[in-house]
Amino acid sequence: MRPRIRGGRTTVLAALLSLTLAAPIAAAQAQDAPPPGPTAGAAQKAELPHQYEVTGPATRAERTALLATGVSIDEVHTRAVVITATRAQATTVRELGYTLRKLPAPPGISATPHKPRIKDFPAGYANYHNYDEATKEIDALVAKYPEILSKQVIGTSHEGRNILALKLSKNVTKDEQEPEVLFTAHQHAREHLTVEMSLYLLNEFTSKYGSDSHVTKMLDSREIWIIPDLNPDGGEYDIASGEFQSWRKNRQPNAGSSEVGTDLNRNWDFKWGCCNGSSDDPGDETYRGPSAASAPEVQVVTKFVQGRKVGGKQQIKAAIDFHTYSELVLWPFGFTDDDTGPGMTQDDHDAFATIGKNMAATNGYTPEQSSDLYITDGSIDDWLWGDQKIFAYTFEMFPSSFGSGGFYPKDSVIPKETSRNREAVLQLLETADCVYRAIGKEEQYCSGN
Ligand code: ARG
Ligand code: ZN
Repeated sequence: MRPRIRGGRTTVLAALLSLTLAAPIAAAQAQDAPPPGPTAGAAQKAELPHQYEVTGPATRAERTALLATGVSIDEVHTRAVVITATRAQATTVRELGYTLRKLPAPPGISATPHKPRIKDFPAGYANYHNYDEATKEIDALVAKYPEILSKQVIGTSHEGRNILALKLSKNVTKDEQEPEVLFTAHQHAREHLTVEMSLYLLNEFTSKYGSDSHVTKMLDSREIWIIPDLNPDGGEYDIASGEFQSWRKNRQPNAGSSEVGTDLNRNWDFKWGCCNGSSDDPGDETYRGPSAASAPEVQVVTKFVQGRKVGGKQQIKAAIDFHTYSELVLWPFGFTDDDTGPGMTQDDHDAFATIGKNMAATNGYTPEQSSDLYITDGSIDDWLWGDQKIFAYTFEMFPSSFGSGGFYPKDSVIPKETSRNREAVLQLLETADCVYRAIGKEEQYCSGN
């Protein structure tokens, strides 16, 4: 068993948990009246999943077992987790002997006399970009910086929205012999801050090229790919009513079921469904889909990544997939508790851990192997590494806990919480030409380049 990386931090977290959770609950109960809004049809409206604090689960095994009820685990603490669950799932979790506390619902439409804004973020969130706003901003950047930024439509979502890949590099129209690095975001619909992360990187790398020496050096010597929105349908659905839906999956219907959606981060074609790290029930938060890569969004990105193999050699060397929340830097594997084994040598693991810890030192996140949280199978980072040998990380962005906003922090945090990852991103770009340099084994692994 590996030594716990978190050390004493969990104790502090546990103490904080009681404080941070108590305050917003009290605040929310004061305004517990149902939010005004489109009431027609509200009665038959499908039940929204809800977040609960669950006291009891204390080990990886207990957390993984908890996932069998169909919930998602959104936060991990020493002896507690926060989950997203339906009412029925919450009952099942209670029957396991755990104590549940329902957390306040995410914000709805503001009670202004104005017409509620539909298909957009509510008050306090207006600086988040919905799909059209993000598209317009990206198009404006491409028009302004055609020498260093180019856009491709690499496919479409289930509902037909474009999935984009943006390339940033000097001589962007040429495929040069440079290490490539991939940034992806928004597999999970409700994790809107990750789209802002993509937009931040696009703005930063274009506007600072030529003036900031590190940015300039990276664009001169790397090819940077950004897929800013893997789940546009889910993202739009989450905001469409003016009341956040706490939606996680995509919006693909499921044959023989009224339940919609696949958890994209359980649908990738590596050890798909192998290890109790996903669900086979379409109603569950972590539904893995009927087969590996059954989600069109996963297919689109899979083909794109496979297409970066030139002469049999994968050009993409490193990657970050952005999620919220918990402030974590995670590395593979998720499907197993083992640190090493088939597909992960000691050197691979050591390089993953060293680079992960170095990145975490810049943003204050907690670095750990993803299965330290709980088992996941079919996740993108396991696929990128296991199938493509890309050094792939998952970042769980701000906040650290439900009490600081959970999946729905106000837009005022966007500048700070996106720029917070600037140094980590630059570090990964820097190291991408030879990841094994991080463990002093450049000679052994990278001299043949
Ligand atoms: N919270 C994310 C999810 O449930 C990440 C879980 C960590 N595992 C991983 N393989 N990245 O999809
Ligand atoms: Zn996520």
